[in-house]
Amino acid sequence: MFNQATFTAVMASLAITMAQTSTEQYPSAAEIAAAQASVKPYSPVSKVHGKAFSRFVDIWLENTDYTTAALDPHLSALAKQGILLENYFAVTHPSEPNYCASAGGDTFGMDNDNFNQIPANVSTIADLFDTKKVAWGEYQEDIPYPGYQGFRYPESGANDYVRKHNPLILFDSVTNDPTRLRQIKNFTTFYQDLEHHTLPQYMFITPNMTNDAHDTNVTFAGTWTHNFLTPLLENEYFMEDTLILLTFDESGNYTKPNRVYSFLLGGAIPKHLKGTSDSTFYTHYSVIASLSANFGLPSLGRWDCGANLLSLVAEETNYINYDVDYTDLNLNVTYPGPESANVYSKYTDVWPIPLTSGSCSAGHGILDIVKRTYRGKEATYNYTSPIPYDAKSGNNVGLKYSRKLHNGRIEHYETV
Ligand SMILES: *[C@@H]1O[C@H](CO)[C@@H](O)[C@H](O)[C@H]1NC(C)=O
Ligand SMILES: *[C@@H]1O[C@H](CO)[C@@H](O)[C@H](O)[C@H]1NC(C)=O
Ligand SMILES: *[C@@H]1O[C@H](CO)[C@@H](O)[C@H](O)[C@H]1NC(C)=O
Ligand SMILES: *[C@@H]1O[C@H](CO)[C@@H](O)[C@H](O)[C@H]1NC(C)=O
Ligand SMILES: *[C@@H]1O[C@H](CO)[C@@H](O)[C@H](O)[C@H]1NC(C)=O
Ligand SMILES: *[C@@H]1O[C@H](CO)[C@@H](O)[C@H](O)[C@H]1NC(C)=O
Ligand SMILES: *[C@@H]1O[C@H](CO)[C@@H](O)[C@H](O)[C@H]1NC(C)=O
Repeated sequence: MFNQATFTAVMASLAITMAQTSTEQYPSAAEIAAAQASVKPYSPVSKVHGKAFSRFVDIWLENTDYTTAALDPHLSALAKQGILLENYFAVTHPSEPNYCASAGGDTFGMDNDNFNQIPANVSTIADLFDTKKVAWGEYQEDIPYPGYQGFRYPESGANDYVRKHNPLILFDSVTNDPTRLRQIKNFTTFYQDLEHHTLPQYMFITPNMTNDAHDTNVTFAGTWTHNFLTPLLENEYFMEDTLILLTFDESGNYTKPNRVYSFLLGGAIPKHLKGTSDSTFYTHYSVIASLSANFGLPSLGRWDCGANLLSLVAEETNYINYDVDYTDLNLNVTYPGPESANVYSKYTDVWPIPLTSGSCSAGHGILDIVKRTYRGKEATYNYTSPIPYDAKSGNNVGLKYSRKLHNGRIEHYETV
């Protein structure tokens, strides 16, 4: 969601306080042309064994309620070829904090689509992958060159590429590293990597603002998805041991629960599960946790720590997911944090502290650099809970969840 008045005000204040980043936000045509001529995409490959899949493809569409998306004939036909996830939730509103969550395991209180930058002492999914050299990449349709950091492209006219839909570019730990930046590529490079068999083991795919429903609707995005995926589903190289997640960043109606239509496809899905549905409670954080459990990687110690694992992964790793009573769960508001520009803007300097101990749902503990950076500090939120904290005085307090242990005992919990 985009508010022109807020945007203008924010940009005006940024121009004063962050003059040093103004070319970064709006590079000149000459700067863009120079970078286009010199910055080459980087496509590392790896073959790290995964327990339930060896490649993960995360594709995000925009701003649509579950029930609206479920009526789209293209999307529902695709879902029938895989596993429909009936209770997959986005974590807040608007768009950018959800993309941020997918890479950083937290929203840091972000409640806006601004030019947010997350400091270098905050780790991401890229750091997790790098512990085992699991090759990763992003494919952002119409990003003009690898690692472009501008606010949008083109800089005027119809929306095309936007920074707010690019998860890893929000993090200084990525933008400070020229090699990492070169792993953030466009669709031209996607098709080259497909042809040359140089796709990474994890990729995040963002269609442009027309194709992802943001500036159109789910009918348009459903057609795009059908056209994009149909040839890929027949491509042996692409499909081999691959798990594809098609989901939405957030629901469309902010006053309803933030449940988004999501399904899994790909060669990693066993035959007997094709055409089934899964009612387990998942969030965007479940994806980080599942990737960690699948490849044997540590946790970020944030909301990925307690998240439910995709059933395919939970089964392979003997993890027991929580049953969550989501009747009163909305996940449609934010919490205090430094990226808040609205409700919690006075918390600007309070970066949430992650966990520094515990095994987490992936079972492999916390990333070393996280333990070193935050040693001795108490975690800000209950990151071991499968339900991310929502509002301070809000509507996901008192939610019940439970799980049945292997010995038959049932543990009951309630969010506070
Ligand atoms: C992380 O960096 C931010 C911004 O520079 C700083 O405010 C914060 O204190 C740092 N956190 C730790 C634990 O060093
Ligand atoms: C994609 O990126 C390449 C550089 O890697 C650039 O030459 C090309 O123009 C870009 N394509 C689009 C459609 O932006
Ligand atoms: C979005 O991508 C499509 C191709 O996938 C292209 O035709 C279109 O021009 C792009 N941009 C806009 C603003 O539609
Ligand atoms: C999307 O827009 C098209 C063209 O305006 C329209 O035909 C279609 O019914 C719309 N889809 C939905 C779900 O509203
Ligand atoms: C959003 O959901 C609320 C609550 O269900 C409903 O009253 C309202 O009409 C919906 N708004 C739109 C634009 O559909
Ligand atoms: C969040 O959803 C609840 C329940 O539908 C609604 O009452 C509340 O107004 C929503 N909050 C916001 C900020 O939209
Ligand atoms: C945090 O979540 C865990 C796991 O769900 C639970 O055992 C614990 O009681 C919670 N702690 C608090 C303070 O709510």
